[in-house]
Amino acid sequence: MGSFIINGGNRLCGNICVHGAKNSVLPVLAATVLSGERSVIYGCPELTDVDSTIKILRYLGCRIRREGGSIEVDSSGMTGDSIPDVLMREMRSSVIFLGAILARTGRAEMTYPGGCELGPRPIDLHLSALRSMGAEITERGGRMICETVGLKGADIDLSIPSVGATENIMLAATAAEGTTRIFNAAREPEIYDLQQFLNRAGARISGAGGPYIEIEGGAKLHAAEHSIIPDRIVTATYMCAVAAAGGEVLLENVCPRHVATVTSVLREAGCRIGETGDRLHISSERRLNAVHPVRTMPYPGFPTDAQSPVMAVMATADGATVFIENIFENRYRHVGELMRMGADIRTEGRVAVVFGVPRLHGAEVEATDLRGGAALIIAALGAEGRTVIRRAKHIERGYEQIEKALGGIGADIEFQEG
Ligand code: UD1
Repeated sequence: MGSFIINGGNRLCGNICVHGAKNSVLPVLAATVLSGERSVIYGCPELTDVDSTIKILRYLGCRIRREGGSIEVDSSGMTGDSIPDVLMREMRSSVIFLGAILARTGRAEMTYPGGCELGPRPIDLHLSALRSMGAEITERGGRMICETVGLKGADIDLSIPSVGATENIMLAATAAEGTTRIFNAAREPEIYDLQQFLNRAGARISGAGGPYIEIEGGAKLHAAEHSIIPDRIVTATYMCAVAAAGGEVLLENVCPRHVATVTSVLREAGCRIGETGDRLHISSERRLNAVHPVRTMPYPGFPTDAQSPVMAVMATADGATVFIENIFENRYRHVGELMRMGADIRTEGRVAVVFGVPRLHGAEVEATDLRGGAALIIAALGAEGRTVIRRAKHIERGYEQIEKALGGIGADIEFQEG
């Protein structure tokens, strides 16, 4: 499982180059099966979720070459159309392969992603959209089998702007006959990145980044190359690390616009943040103050994935900060762990009230999920004494060598196997 050992209290100073976005690379890699040709994706982070995606691609019969941050996928020899349960369980978001495999082969079979650490993760919107495009979906022994004699373009109104559903529809719609129109689409930057990759491969998609996306289906896709956008949640996490521990850091390879809501919260708390091009400079020199309520919303609102990192910062701010989690039901599992470190937090349903204490102290804690684990690292960096964070594997799903990045700016952090 592995643990992170952190001795808190060091100021953080220096530079970090932010890696490519996990939530962008996963759907783009799934999309490489569509063309039946060679795709090269640059800026891929080394993460366990990326490893799991590659395992699925290999299982399907794709040939992969990975060199540094580049991943070449040759999907010409793809023969499979099903994903075994053991691979589905490695990564809940593998449901993104549903639209991609269906578009390529006309059939896709996999197990339900089921519940995960954030609570139930329904896929009803994915399935009803695919059905309205002409897919027949049946269930046999916990596996879903999705078949079509030919997908057809459709008008799809999403009741929730689901990221995964929007991506699955885009992927399936590239192979559909006619035009698919998505209303109330997710507007996340990762959706725009998927559109860019697919269009480079010959697809005809417009509108991604806004609430209305149009996909003209049926184009034959071909080989393409693409560079993944910077990871906005990793950017936000390192911003929070500096905010909590104090110091002055330059983050490179970032898109400041993608973290605008996090920037405004941390500025309100007292951090100084400057932006130029793809760089963001942050300094935090004194005890921060509490901020107005933080409400998680679909993009361009405050991201649910940054809720726990910002909460770790507010745990030692002067005053009380209210958090309202509007996206996932079960996203306060890190709270109990932060409290072991001396935080004073009350939760009631979707609301958490954080009463800032002057200082946290080191403790033995457990990463409950990816972003909750990141929050514990942030808290530990600002805390007095030694913190051991167990179940580090959750954190490795989304942060490439986080101990190296933080160690490089002065943090006392090490990874221990076992
Ligand atoms: C993606 C991100 C995840 C992020 C989340 C919200 C990836 C790999 N993961 O997850 O990091 O936290 O967006 O920004 O990109 N819902 C339904 N029915 C559905 C689909 C979703 O009710 O069919 C609900 C979910 O339960 C949740 C909300 O819609 O309450 C948003 O989920 P969604 O946008 O689909 O998140 P993911 O794509 O799973």
